[in-house]
Amino acid sequence: MKMQIWNLFRVRGAGLLFLVGFGALLLMRCGSPKEIVQPIAYNHKVHLTEAGLDCRDCHKGVENSIRATIPSIKVCASCHSKIKGKSTAEAQVVEAVKSGTEIPWQRIYRVPDHVFFSHRRHVTAGKIACKTCHGDVEKLTKPASHQLVPIAMKTCMKCHDNKSISNDCIHCHV
Ligand code: HEC
Ligand code: HEC
Ligand code: HEC
Ligand code: HEC
Ligand code: HEC
Repeated sequence: MKMQIWNLFRVRGAGLLFLVGFGALLLMRCGSPKEIVQPIAYNHKVHLTEAGLDCRDCHKGVENSIRATIPSIKVCASCHSKIKGKSTAEAQVVEAVKSGTEIPWQRIYRVPDHVFFSHRRHVTAGKIACKTCHGDVEKLTKPASHQLVPIAMKTCMKCHDNKSISNDCIHCHV
């Protein structure tokens, strides 16, 4: 009899442990979207203040094309042919410049293939600030690991409604 109760307890304990573990796994999967880690600890703030650059100097497509684009190593080469500071990140950039290797940056902002979005349309024609859709990039001292302003159909449509721009499905869905 004693033995049986003990067995029951053991089984229950294992069940509980399984449930807790499973619950934690579910929370981890649903709670946080995938965090992206960039290959080099790039610092936006230093380039917009100390280096005196503008968003358009690096994201060259932003005014005239669909895509803003992430800069190629050629853009970095004009300033980073030699190590000046002490940071490892800077040393990694100089290394890449010397060998002419592109840095494998990962995209954070991306719409699904069935959605059409144009930077030119929003930045040049619509005169909408980068900040509205990307947050305070000027203040970033390290790469963002997720979308600071999440892309969502609701958000697109809300602004279009406010500005009396058509929200017909066919405008955004190709
Ligand atoms: C010296 C070049 C440079 C300048 C100037 C610059 N950026 Fe960037 N930007 C980068 C690099 C490199 C990355 C990729 C690494 C990262 O995410 O930090 C990036 C990433 C981004 C991303 C994330 C894109 C994605 O989908 O992964 C956004 C948004 C962005 N920049 C906006 C801006 C805005 C807004 C400004 C001006 C306020 C700006 N950038 C100025 C080089 C630059
Ligand atoms: C107009 C010149 C200029 C361009 C173009 C430029 N940088 Fe810089 N960068 C600077 C200056 C100035 C600093 C700050 C002083 C230093 O550390 O050398 C800096 C610093 C850095 C650092 C060290 C930051 C830290 O917080 O430790 C990294 C990493 C870096 N740059 C990456 C890049 C990358 C990647 C590109 C190309 C997408 C790029 N830079 C383009 C001028 C520039
Ligand atoms: C109305 C919202 C909106 C505005 C304004 C906006 N962006 Fe974007 N941005 C997006 C969306 C949506 C994407 C994803 C696009 C895709 O997948 O084709 C994106 C993607 C990007 C990327 C990733 C690389 C790429 O080529 O797609 C960069 C870098 C970027 N934006 C920079 C900027 C900068 C710099 C500005 C201001 C000059 C700006 N954006 C203004 C919504 C916006
Ligand atoms: C903060 C406001 C704002 C947000 C957010 C915004 N848009 Fe727009 N959108 C505009 C404005 C303003 C225009 C008109 C620009 C012009 O004058 O051509 C426009 C135009 C467009 C057009 C062209 C419409 C046509 O009739 O040809 C498309 C497509 C579009 N947006 C897609 C998107 C998508 C997709 C998103 C979300 C990822 C988005 N927009 C988010 C303000 C916004
Ligand atoms: C202003 C732009 C815009 C308009 C107008 C728009 N959508 Fe979307 N839609 C998006 C964006 C951006 C996404 C992707 C982000 C998201 O899922 O929220 C999306 C996602 C979707 C999805 C989800 C697909 C998936 O990948 O899960 C469906 C379904 C959809 N839209 C249907 C519609 C229908 C139906 C209409 C017309 C009533 C419409 N949309 C109008 C921008 C738009």
